[in-house]
Amino acid sequence: MAKIAVTGGTGFVGGTVAAVLADKGHDVTCLVRRDPGPGFPWLARIVDTEDVSSLARGLEGCDAVAHLAIYNDFGGIYADRRRGYDGYVGLTRRVVDAANQIDCLVGYVSTDWVFDGTGHLVDEEEPPNPVNLYGFLKASSELVVLERAKAGFVARVGGVQGLHQTQAQGPRSQDVGFGYFVLAIVDALRSGARFLVWEDPHINSIATPIVSPEIGALLGRAVDRRIDGVLHLPAARR
Ligand SMILES: NC(=O)c1ccc[n+]([C@@H]2O[C@H](COP(=O)([O-])OP(=O)(O)OC[C@H]3O[C@@H](n4cnc5c(N)ncnc54)[C@H](OP(=O)(O)O)[C@@H]3O)[C@@H](O)[C@H]2O)c1
Repeated sequence: MAKIAVTGGTGFVGGTVAAVLADKGHDVTCLVRRDPGPGFPWLARIVDTEDVSSLARGLEGCDAVAHLAIYNDFGGIYADRRRGYDGYVGLTRRVVDAANQIDCLVGYVSTDWVFDGTGHLVDEEEPPNPVNLYGFLKASSELVVLERAKAGFVARVGGVQGLHQTQAQGPRSQDVGFGYFVLAIVDALRSGARFLVWEDPHINSIATPIVSPEIGALLGRAVDRRIDGVLHLPAARR
């Protein structure tokens, strides 16, 4: 079993990825930017995510890193494009550079939003065609991994459903897209709030939802096989 670092382990998808990898017997270390508190379920190493040396120290002894951390604010990346670019592409470049120092495999979790959201079940050779800044930044980050990592792969997922492992609730209102759609509905209805479903020409309208534990299991298999290139991990039905 591999020793796997996880970035974004305090987040919605990363927490479940960490949980599933640990359940499957992998040795999991979450790279976090602040102390996650005493109840945090996995080993956590605090790193300065702006500093490659700090990230490299955090990765010491790891065979692979599952990179899920992003500046996850759809409005924020438009409002402050430099911060947005750095929170996707810059951060990914630093993680890759740190991983390269110790021959650590990089598994980057990307999105079906690198496509335009009008098709379904395209294959991995399909060229990206993002319709919004989020998709552009994710496609750019993918290239960093594919072109710069000594060993790395991109795993595209979409419309992730599941529970948040370390927070009692998900985001109270639905974010753009279909991620945590069910969790957001349950949270809203439980608190008697109205539920707003997003619709916009710049938001992909076709999703193939996946449950987050599947992502953890598939990432673990990809790490075990030390794959490279692009993997599509969508569900079978849109
Ligand atoms: N949710 C979906 O439906 C979906 C679909 C496709 C792909 N994805 C991908 O899955 C990944 C995780 O998404 P999510 O929904 O789980 O997001 P999330 O819940 O918002 O979690 C974001 C994570 O990134 C960390 N982070 C944010 N800014 C950072 C920075 N500047 N430096 C270091 N860490 C930072 C956060 O840490 P703190 O706790 O310190 O803030 C948190 O752990 C993303 O790469 C996303 O593109 C998600």
